[in-house]
Amino acid sequence: MSKLPGNAGVSVLGDKSVEFYRDPVSFCRQRIEKHRSGVFQSRLLNRPTAFICSVKGTRELLCEKSNVFLKDPTDLMTNMYGDTIVTTNGEEACLLRLSLMSLFTGSCLESSNDYITSVCERCLKDLSLSVWSACVFLSGQPECVYSAFKRLGTELVLGLFLNVRAEEQPELYQEISQLCTQHWHGLISAPVNVKVPLWSSGFSTALDARDKLMDIIKDKLEHDKQGFVGSLGSLPLPDSSSASQHLLLFISALIPKALASLLTSFTLALSGNEQMRRRAMEEPDYLRRVLLEVQRLWPPFIGGRRIADQDSTLAGFDVPKGYGAIYISHAVHRDPEVFQQPDSFLPERWSGRNAGQEHFLCAFGSGPRGCIGNKLTDVFLKEACMYLLKHYDWHLDPPSQDLDYKWLPVSRPANPPTVSFTRLDQTRSDRNDTS
Ligand code: HEM
Repeated sequence: MSKLPGNAGVSVLGDKSVEFYRDPVSFCRQRIEKHRSGVFQSRLLNRPTAFICSVKGTRELLCEKSNVFLKDPTDLMTNMYGDTIVTTNGEEACLLRLSLMSLFTGSCLESSNDYITSVCERCLKDLSLSVWSACVFLSGQPECVYSAFKRLGTELVLGLFLNVRAEEQPELYQEISQLCTQHWHGLISAPVNVKVPLWSSGFSTALDARDKLMDIIKDKLEHDKQGFVGSLGSLPLPDSSSASQHLLLFISALIPKALASLLTSFTLALSGNEQMRRRAMEEPDYLRRVLLEVQRLWPPFIGGRRIADQDSTLAGFDVPKGYGAIYISHAVHRDPEVFQQPDSFLPERWSGRNAGQEHFLCAFGSGPRGCIGNKLTDVFLKEACMYLLKHYDWHLDPPSQDLDYKWLPVSRPANPPTVSFTRLDQTRSDRNDTS
């Protein structure tokens, strides 16, 4: 076995976290080119870390060697979300997954269908109006698709997981979504808990928001016996705080952001391409391929991190015990050994050369610690995309925009992209009027 290309530098001074978090894609691209290798080492979060940018290395990390490369219990997530499945290992993680998975599969998943349909209809039905009114009459600001889809994602999450629906309890809904945003900002602000009169650090505001959210969640778990909250409350879980802690995780602002990221990328990829939109609407399998290509090119999360529990290897390179290992979905999905013309949007690759290789993608992780919400996400995305395809024509407005992506905290164009939607029934009736 050989030494990982690159070097992990000295403690603190050699740390590359700032450079990585500023632009993770360029960080990896430069090193892949320099070392001519899809696996290299550097120093991240002051820990020597193997960066895995190839399909083969990621399969080993997440699947074959998942008992060697473990979740980090001191991960930043623990600060804000407490002990959840995300940072647990071993038997406890297996049992938690077994319990929680039942909420996201089978009859529980099926019982979400009606709500998913209704929330898509409610939030997407006025897209043509809202763009027009937001652009021209109300704020003078064109509406950004990402923001519109984030509102949809938030309505989905709060309605489904907490039984709080925007149209039924608008004040409570507003309060919770604001608290979720404040709580989320704690994840991306320095962990300094300072409060003085009239000012408190972002982190301390986040902790206050977390406490308020926990009060609401506990009240729901105690009194609501219906829906997801009811099912979660009756699951066998390791301790009494586990249900509330996980509900806090599920309603986190991160999930609406990830959903909005994928819907935004879908909308942009198909904007102005009427032929592709029509085909995606008529052929469910073509829509499936389009969505695979969307998650391949624009995975919402940059990747996931593990710690080596013993000396091991990845893609033929030594990875000593204590090393971090991070898979970079953006780079894995462009691994030229697996994906020809890796930067091109080619849905047909999934019925040709890459047919049956969906498991090489890692937008939802992979293996025994893969995402437990991926089926729910799939149902939701298909419903939202079908609604858009059936009801709208859309194009970039203005037609020329800088669509360069940023990759953190979720992938999306750094400048908010704006799109004009025209209702298809409207276009048809206009055509009929003039004929
Ligand atoms: C676009 C939507 C989503 C994306 C892109 C996404 C992505 C991911 C990824 C990449 C991982 C693996 C992280 C790693 O390897 O360290 C993961 C894990 C997880 N996801 Fe998702 N996810 C999404 C939606 C959801 C939803 C809707 C839920 C549930 C409400 C959910 C719950 C989880 C949980 C609990 C884990 C941890 C599993 C474990 O550690 O065993 N996700 N997700």
